[in-house]
Amino acid sequence: MRKKISRRGFFNQSIGFGLGSLLFKNFSRYKSDPSSQIPLIISSHTNDTGKKAVEKGWEILSGGGSALDAVEKAANVIELDPEGLGVGWGGLPNENGVIQLDASIMDGKTYNAGAVGALENIRTPCSVARVVMEHTDHIFLVGGDALSFAKKWGFKPQELLTEKSREIWLRWKKKLNEQDDWGPPEHLKDRNKKSMSNPDSLPRLSGTTNVLAVDKNGDVAGITTTSGLSFKIPGRVGDSPIIGAGLYVDNAVGAAGATGRGEDVIKSCASHYIVIMMKEGKSPQQACEAACMMIAEKYKNVNIDFLPGENFVAINKKGELGCARMPRKRPARVSLRNQSGYSVYKGSAPFGS
Ligand code: GLY
Repeated sequence: MRKKISRRGFFNQSIGFGLGSLLFKNFSRYKSDPSSQIPLIISSHTNDTGKKAVEKGWEILSGGGSALDAVEKAANVIELDPEGLGVGWGGLPNENGVIQLDASIMDGKTYNAGAVGALENIRTPCSVARVVMEHTDHIFLVGGDALSFAKKWGFKPQELLTEKSREIWLRWKKKLNEQDDWGPPEHLKDRNKKSMSNPDSLPRLSGTTNVLAVDKNGDVAGITTTSGLSFKIPGRVGDSPIIGAGLYVDNAVGAAGATGRGEDVIKSCASHYIVIMMKEGKSPQQACEAACMMIAEKYKNVNIDFLPGENFVAINKKGELGCARMPRKRPARVSLRNQSGYSVYKGSAPFGS
């Protein structure tokens, strides 16, 4: 069994070895995915909806369709599931009880990208992002103007809150406490200070999804879509619609996406970093683990006990895949659909809990 290593231990042992070599020697179990083949589609959603999503994408890919169409139709399945908290319809709202969605799309074949931020009342934000990408010379539209744009292109405004998401928001409202965002950044909070929080307070959630695909021609595309951090300050935009942060695609290399605490993904440009790591010869698994390491290293002189809750997924042009998450016990997972069928791929959690 693989030996777990603490953050302090990790950094202590790293002295003199070089972080990179230690990381790849100790943590990377997956040199490559043995079932690697193209076409393929993956999603960071591993529940039933994630399965339905990649099966939908597979229908397109197996019929010779494009990676771009496959990721959009697959992501729509997740966005349109009202039971899924964290993406599209039924996502979790901001602190005012309003759902504001973020999404991005990137097409490797045309080296083009589109995104929307803080978009209200449209259940399929990744499709609006695709219209921005394909029908404008811009990349990123936000807020009320993004909604006006969507309406002009025929998207129908609809309620996004479900009874389930409204009820969760009301419960959070009743227990408002210092876990909200009105304070210093998470990594600078005084953790020794006695918490005044209600012990029943709700954990903060972000249920983002990434969908990445390679089609039979070897073209690569990706989407990241989310309702963002639950109960966020209105107007807060996370990493998901930021190209290079929540998503990046390079048709010569592969694609990467992030979920989890968006603030750290933005600061680290993590998806771009993962793609660069793959370009330099790392497998997708190694590249995702390298991103975890890179972020941890940023905090080592600020707050060595802080590890943001991030999850990274990646594929390369050959059809290999990888995923890694930061401080959690369970390894990261992705739903995978290729010619061999549906499976859930288990990656790693390099730091354990
Ligand atoms: N990663 C999603 C968010 O922070 O909004």
